[in-house]
Amino acid sequence: MQRVLNVANRLPVTIGSTIKKSSGGLVAALEGVSNNHFELQSIGWPGPVDDTAKISELKQTLESDYGCIPVFLPDELIQGYYHGLSNSSLWPLLHYNRAYMNYSDSDWAAYCQVNELFADAILEIANDDDIVWVHDYHLFLLPSLLRKHKPHLKIGFFLHTPFPSSEVIRCHPQREALIRGVLGADLIGFHTFGYLRHFRSSALQLLGLESDMTEIQIGNHTASLGIFPIGINSASFEHELRTTDYQNTLAAFQQNWAGKRLVLSVERLDYSKGLLRRLSAIETFLAGTQNRDDVVFVFVSVPTRGEVKEYQLLRERIEREVGRINGLYASVQNSPIHFIHQSIPFTELCALYSMADVGLVTPLVDGMNLVAKEYLACQDDADPGVLVLSEFAGAAQELVNAIIVNPYNKVEVANAIDHALNMSLEERQQRMGYMKSRVMQYNADYWARSFIDELMQSNQLHNKPRNLLDDEQMITQALINHSNVAFFLDYDGTLREFEDKPDDAFPTAELHALLQQLNKAPIDVYIISGRSGETLQEWLGDYDFTLIAEHGNRYLAPGADAWVSLNPDNDFSWKEAVREVFSLYEGSTPGSSIEDKQSSVVWHYRLSDPVYGGWKANQLLSDMYSMLGNLPVEIHHGKRIVEASSMHVNKGRAVEYFMRRNDYDAVMCAGDDQTDEAMFRRPSSDNIVSIKVGEGDTQAANRVPDVKQFHLLLQRLTQLLKKKHNSNKAAEL
Ligand code: UDP
Ligand code: G6P
Repeated sequence: MQRVLNVANRLPVTIGSTIKKSSGGLVAALEGVSNNHFELQSIGWPGPVDDTAKISELKQTLESDYGCIPVFLPDELIQGYYHGLSNSSLWPLLHYNRAYMNYSDSDWAAYCQVNELFADAILEIANDDDIVWVHDYHLFLLPSLLRKHKPHLKIGFFLHTPFPSSEVIRCHPQREALIRGVLGADLIGFHTFGYLRHFRSSALQLLGLESDMTEIQIGNHTASLGIFPIGINSASFEHELRTTDYQNTLAAFQQNWAGKRLVLSVERLDYSKGLLRRLSAIETFLAGTQNRDDVVFVFVSVPTRGEVKEYQLLRERIEREVGRINGLYASVQNSPIHFIHQSIPFTELCALYSMADVGLVTPLVDGMNLVAKEYLACQDDADPGVLVLSEFAGAAQELVNAIIVNPYNKVEVANAIDHALNMSLEERQQRMGYMKSRVMQYNADYWARSFIDELMQSNQLHNKPRNLLDDEQMITQALINHSNVAFFLDYDGTLREFEDKPDDAFPTAELHALLQQLNKAPIDVYIISGRSGETLQEWLGDYDFTLIAEHGNRYLAPGADAWVSLNPDNDFSWKEAVREVFSLYEGSTPGSSIEDKQSSVVWHYRLSDPVYGGWKANQLLSDMYSMLGNLPVEIHHGKRIVEASSMHVNKGRAVEYFMRRNDYDAVMCAGDDQTDEAMFRRPSSDNIVSIKVGEGDTQAANRVPDVKQFHLLLQRLTQLLKKKHNSNKAAEL
């Protein structure tokens, strides 16, 4: 059976004075995943340990009695990693609460360290054919850490919280590292399409990564994206509702609240759950109703994250509000709000769900909200209750027959309570039927199975090495055994990383050192770029290289004074009309600019909003296609540029010209962009090596992931060529 290493910050049980079941939706859902389809192995933090001398005994108990592999964390790391970075900076931002974000570099250091500790624990036990399934925001860095050490491991990541708009997540000082960390996974799962969309747009806005609807390419790795709405542990509710223990508890509760209508809310005492606004809506309801003595609002508020200041303040405010409202609206017969600040046993929870006339679930923002689904699972088909659900819970996308409310609108919520309490049996049954059967069918087990199935498939489709530099030996062989060798090297994105402003991408000291090595090697070097001749000459004119400017339009031989045209007709009269259209786009797209070259006109939108810029670029392309007609102009959409250039000019033709002229035995062409493909589209032959630098479709036979790796390859190749050249010379003597 397939083994799945199921990794979450929280283990299903937490150590305290005794070992207890943990609270929260993540634990509840994972409990509902059966072991029928795969063998699940839980790995996680068991909570703080008072006496470190007991660690090895606890480890044994957790493993043998609960089947859990604990990752123990020292107290000093718990503070920074759990209370700090996870719950004081990530949780608030993931829940759109910028004001509550508290970040410190020391928290970040602890977070990084704990992610490393988790990676160590997993790598110690993971076999190559295991699946690792990482859960939630505490472990954003883990997928990439695992990928680094075991590149072919199947890794899934599921986010149990919302993923907010890029405008919010970008407030986090470590936003790039966090997103990059998750992208190490093969499959990243979200509850809703909205969260997936925000994640994609953050990868684009913050890391510049373009993506398809369900895939993001980063280097040579593809991370698939998917929507997997989490479900409840339906079997445990079905089972519990048949026990005598449950029947007795229900009977006792019914007696206790005889004659009352019950409105139930259950949640961790968290600011994302909207308790204060709900209290305000309840007050509005109580103020407006004649029957306030007949209704009891039961709040089960499970203690959570009590060490974080915002949670302490929230608890104080809620207790004050509950006291105030009860003081105002209580009578001898009734006290309207029954506040329980404790975790309650499962049997009692089921009895409360079952007898409540209304399930009042009004979070301000919530990844899914399992309480809403659990409430439905416990309803009696003959006399069901009514679910009032916030439109900002992920569950609202599925539970469309609930009374959906805006939790910020207290009058709307108060009216919804009133409507729910007075709804006819027929309407209650109609609303409940579809929702309950959906919740029972699409349960936690279904959720886990669909995620793991897709993860297994996604890994089969992607990440097969495509002629990467695993084949370096082959490349070396193709070049080294020849005496007349040429390198045709693109500049931007190949020899030099991109900069926001093209003028800033001048050669660094490190690049100069590499170029000096190349200069001394027994190779003809051609720098073949889309840049102007002036720039190439200024930056690279001191080397014995041939400079080919403007995508092959003209060249400057080593030591020569004048540029020579490679363009047979030199007709650039079309540029004027093109420039006019481009300037319309420059005007309407903030951050974009026009570059005028001798044989082409370029519209750059690297500094514009990437989504808007991309959209305008597509418009410009379609305008150009309809305008160009029979003009000898080629249009291409490159990396955040649109370029119109003479049809008679391209890099492929330039390479061909020099190959013919110098009769090279072996040639290497390297580039990163669409314009470099003209060099790669050559008849395949043993003595032409084509290399694509970076991601994206290509006709090149080989690929290196980035500029850095290409530098290292060039270094190794020039050394080998030099060595071979010297030994040939020695043999001749
Ligand atoms: N729950 C719990 N202890 C309690 C009451 C409820 O563990 O005393 C469970 C509840 O049954 C549900 C989970 O906590 O499964 C809450 O999940 P939800 O998705 O609603 O919210 P989260 O806590 O994940 O934010
Ligand atoms: C949410 C989070 C879970 C977390 C749970 C309980 O559901 O998404 O990752 O386990 O809350 O919070 P706690 O901090 O007690 O683990």
